[in-house]
Amino acid sequence: MTSNNDNAPKRSDFAGDFLWGFATSSYQIEGAINEGGRVKSIWDTFCEQPGKIRDGSSGAVACDHYHRWEEDLDLLRDTGATVYRFSIAWPRIYGDGKTPNEEGLAFYDKLVDGMLARGIQPWVTLYHWDLPQVLQDQGGWAVRETVNAFLHYADIVSKRLGNRVKHWITHNEPWCTAMHGHWDGMHAPGMKDFATAVQCSHNVLVSHGLALPIIRRNVPDAQVGIALSLHPTRAASGSAEDLAAAHRHDGLRNRWYLDPLYGKGYPQDVLDLMGHAAPRIEPGDVEAIARKTDFVGLNYYFPEVIAHAPGNGPLEGRVVHVEGVERTAFNWEVSPEGLTELLVRMNKDYGAQNIYVTENGSSYEDVPGPDGTVQDPQRLSYLVRHLNAVRDAIARGVPVKGYFAWSLLDNFEWAEGYIRRFGLAYVDFATQQRSLKLSGQWYRDFLKGIR
Ligand code: FCB
Repeated sequence: MTSNNDNAPKRSDFAGDFLWGFATSSYQIEGAINEGGRVKSIWDTFCEQPGKIRDGSSGAVACDHYHRWEEDLDLLRDTGATVYRFSIAWPRIYGDGKTPNEEGLAFYDKLVDGMLARGIQPWVTLYHWDLPQVLQDQGGWAVRETVNAFLHYADIVSKRLGNRVKHWITHNEPWCTAMHGHWDGMHAPGMKDFATAVQCSHNVLVSHGLALPIIRRNVPDAQVGIALSLHPTRAASGSAEDLAAAHRHDGLRNRWYLDPLYGKGYPQDVLDLMGHAAPRIEPGDVEAIARKTDFVGLNYYFPEVIAHAPGNGPLEGRVVHVEGVERTAFNWEVSPEGLTELLVRMNKDYGAQNIYVTENGSSYEDVPGPDGTVQDPQRLSYLVRHLNAVRDAIARGVPVKGYFAWSLLDNFEWAEGYIRRFGLAYVDFATQQRSLKLSGQWYRDFLKGIR
């Protein structure tokens, strides 16, 4: 262990009702892509295209969680986690688009029952990026029909699980759905068109807002929110140009989501720089997006440093790779204070209440030692320092109510395939054996109050 952990938090430093657990997502762990009446997803299609996934892999098997879910829930329970954020695979529910697929619903029935039987509170994410391919073929998130299809899906799932699931997250990281999916093309469906990406971001937000009353009607005691990926944005220098570029970047990354969700409408400076790429907004959309949620989720990984780059895309900026700062194996800057900063900002600038860290974690090159255990002192240090950062935010009066570690298991890390391991439990993908890494053992002991 590094000396950084001398200052490690204790569970008793946090309120007794603070929620602790893990997050995962369907495509990243389930596998079994051709089973149980699941239809094809955009990620199945994307992975078939050469060069899209770094190691040429896919989520076809992933952690085989579809078959090993009981073992995985046992592992969760054994860590002392009391909440579990997982996502529903829309392609398992889709059926023929009108009548849902009963087998898919039955799978999540038993998964949820399995959590409740183990004393784990289920937190459902409805959309964590696995869109049914048939909807993409009809235009995907760029068209309004997909919003309607999402509402139908949200209705079906919340009706079915609502007597047992009280916590609902409509979307995971709308920025990634829109921008990685349609602007830089790094994620499915792999498009590269800024105006399309912007329209997708709007449609995703509208689908969130319109889903709120549907979920609440089906689940009167529901708590409904959204999980945003936010990044502290720093200027590469003190020059006016870099400061302005950083502000623009912050606009598209952060304010584009926070502002409309908290009733301020889209930021005018971002709309201005979008020009013709600005989204088509229908009457009522802005009000729908601004509907009050019960909580907000923050997925936090790293800050970004931005320099002015004339002519470089609509933002006229570029991300600068600063030398000499601590980074994970994914090259993401390690900055726990960035987490405190965002939590404070969400509360002070937007009045956000009931904030949950719905994802936070790190990837390192894990190699099991002679006794089979992965010694991952860097991930442990990352975890400890980020929990301290949450504690700091709470000390500054921010109502943070829970923390979900990303992730329970090493899994399919999107365009990076299996190269990036984020689990607190190691997965040997040849045998599908799971074992808690040193960091996972620490988190377990922390949750059990042993440390
Ligand atoms: C987030 C995603 C999650 C995982 C982590 C590392 O952006 O929501 O699925 O890939 O990054």
